[in-house]
Amino acid sequence: MYLKNIKIKNFRNYEEQEVKFGEKLNIFYGENAQGKTNILESIFLCAFGKSFRTKKEKEMIKKGEEFTKVEVEYQKKDRDGKISIKISNKKMISVNGVKIKKLSELLGNINIVIFTPDDINILKNGPSTRRRFLDMMIGQLRTNYVYNLNMYLKTLEQRNNYLKQKDVKDSMLEIWDEKLSDYGHKIFLYRNEFIEKIKQEIEEIHSEITDEEISIKYKSDCENTEEYKKHLLRNRKIDQIKGFTSAGTHRDDFKILINGEEINVFGSQGQNRTAILSLKLAELKVIYNDIEEYPILLLDDFMSELDEKRISNFLNKIKNIQVIITCTRNIDIKNSVPYKVKKGTIHCE
Ligand SMILES: Nc1ncnc2c1ncn2[C@@H]1O[C@H](COP(=O)(O)OP(=O)(O)OP(=O)(O)O)[C@@H](O)[C@H]1O
Ligand SMILES: [Mg+2]
Repeated sequence: MYLKNIKIKNFRNYEEQEVKFGEKLNIFYGENAQGKTNILESIFLCAFGKSFRTKKEKEMIKKGEEFTKVEVEYQKKDRDGKISIKISNKKMISVNGVKIKKLSELLGNINIVIFTPDDINILKNGPSTRRRFLDMMIGQLRTNYVYNLNMYLKTLEQRNNYLKQKDVKDSMLEIWDEKLSDYGHKIFLYRNEFIEKIKQEIEEIHSEITDEEISIKYKSDCENTEEYKKHLLRNRKIDQIKGFTSAGTHRDDFKILINGEEINVFGSQGQNRTAILSLKLAELKVIYNDIEEYPILLLDDFMSELDEKRISNFLNKIKNIQVIITCTRNIDIKNSVPYKVKKGTIHCE
């Protein structure tokens, strides 16, 4: 698929800007703090209904303004479409002119894989960053996943609130445990399916970049519904003392191993970066296998992460899909469209 154009108003340091995209490689270049990442953020917003940089959505509104609006037109293999998002005191999203009620109705219209310098945190940070990676990938492909995840988190919150009460009854906890294990196991099945798919792709991708062996191990409390219920029962006293649920899919994690060793413990800087790149390329392929067309690839500042040889090898791999790159200098690549970004304005050359 590809994006045809984007129109943004009062978004971060942009007042009003329209960009028409090339169907393949688009390079947004310019000095620091000019608005390159902001453009990627506005595209991401149209795909996921939120930012990849902030939870405070109002930060995206240009300082001194009341609202921001982003509109994007895209082409898929069987349809075209338009997404429009306005953020003021509230958020309004429409797909093809029709206002949507739930975020899950937005997901999957625009498929995206994003690579930012912060993605190294998928390896370095705690499990929640890795779960977020899974949620972003699966959420854009399976609407039911988002539904089950929301239901799980709602049930978890209710169970935790109940645990904090003075008079906790076993019969009530059994009801929460039943619901939690049902949603938890469904989430496990989705995550397990997609980790298996990632595994099938990542080994070959990684072996083309280095001669190291990469593997992934997924760990979940919810593999088996009955076992999970027993686990909840065993932890019941502790959960009551702590006031929260200590086992469940909200603690899921996966580890990436290089030559059998955990990368976040033993990996070098370069190994970490390469592993993340392989993970993202595997995600790209998994999405392609699922929807039978390539998602759009957003690469923020990725040149500074890699040497010349890896850059050209990498760009060679993705030359047939729409890629939107930001970097501080223009690079001369055949058939790419360069855009100069300066102080919140964009000029296509
Ligand atoms: N809400 C806002 N209103 C006005 N300006 C903003 C707002 N949010 C961010 N900015 C400004 O946007 C500018 C550009 O940000 P952006 O992250 O896109 O830069 P960049 O071109 O990617 O730079 P770098 O090369 O350093 O990554 C920054 O100077 C920032 O202060
Ligand atoms: Mg930037």
